[in-house]
Amino acid sequence: ARKIIIDTDPGQDDAVAILLALASPDEIELLGLTCVAGNVPLDLTARNARMVCELAGRTDIPVFAGCDRPLGRELVTAEHVHGKTGLDGPDLPEPAMPLADTHAVDFLVDTLRVEPAGTVTLVPIGPLTNIAAAFKAAPDIVEKVHEIVLMGGAYFEVGNITPAAEFNIHVDPQAADIVFRAGAPITVMPLDVTHKALVTKPRNDAFRALGTSVGTAVAQMTDFFERFDKEKYGSAGAPLHDPCTVAYLLNPELFTGRHINVEIETTSELTMGMTVADWWRVTRRTPNALFIGDLDADGFFDLLTERLARL
Ligand code: BDR
Ligand code: CA
Repeated sequence: ARKIIIDTDPGQDDAVAILLALASPDEIELLGLTCVAGNVPLDLTARNARMVCELAGRTDIPVFAGCDRPLGRELVTAEHVHGKTGLDGPDLPEPAMPLADTHAVDFLVDTLRVEPAGTVTLVPIGPLTNIAAAFKAAPDIVEKVHEIVLMGGAYFEVGNITPAAEFNIHVDPQAADIVFRAGAPITVMPLDVTHKALVTKPRNDAFRALGTSVGTAVAQMTDFFERFDKEKYGSAGAPLHDPCTVAYLLNPELFTGRHINVEIETTSELTMGMTVADWWRVTRRTPNALFIGDLDADGFFDLLTERLARL
């Protein structure tokens, strides 16, 4: 199984991504969850991550709290999407499992340092603050990364937090800039693909029909999460942004994209955090990312539902 670390700000869609990884032990060895401030402040993302581990019966997964604010900006949160707790919807108990006592950035550095080159996959599904802080503190760990598969950015679909920018990149554009320039192989799941991974009514019914506590909680989470996109964009269901990353690890053939240059806007307030993606290759800038543009949505939901049934 491939070793991964999920860096996360749960978030209902983050929760589903974590559950998908925990449901797939043959392919994925989850070394830990590193939490970051994003959808809600850090104390809540670190709480929610532990609630998700407990829901899956996996209190053995270490959960680390990391950076409580972006590298150089004020924190922007998204309670308008995810609710007051960040994980509104199901009625889950407060977590009993403790947080690990190491800072998430130290865990990232220490873990990568002891692993052979090119062996650990990073799966960032929140603002990139923890990952950038680790790369800044210990540039030697970059070569230990096999691949970074992240959710963030947008090209044709442009913004969901500003007209020009997607939330994860907008919250910490400086961190994103560091990560995109680091030199590790990067695969990006932008809004262009995640807005095609919609939890329609039949797909939500399929989660509920699992008849398990995980199936019910996922149905309730995606029900709650749907409200925002439905009202705002008339979307047919909740976009399952973050689980696209883990599904890609399990079956990359569900996705198609282009290997292109992606740069991050870090100075203009108007377009802060925009992912300037050279989709049509109109520059000579060196490609630094596989930018995903499409997925087989039915294949994605079949995989997700079949895996969640195992928990
Ligand atoms: C991203 O922002 C968050 O609200 C979601 O969890 C996802 O990671 C989508 O723009
Ligand atoms: Ca997220």
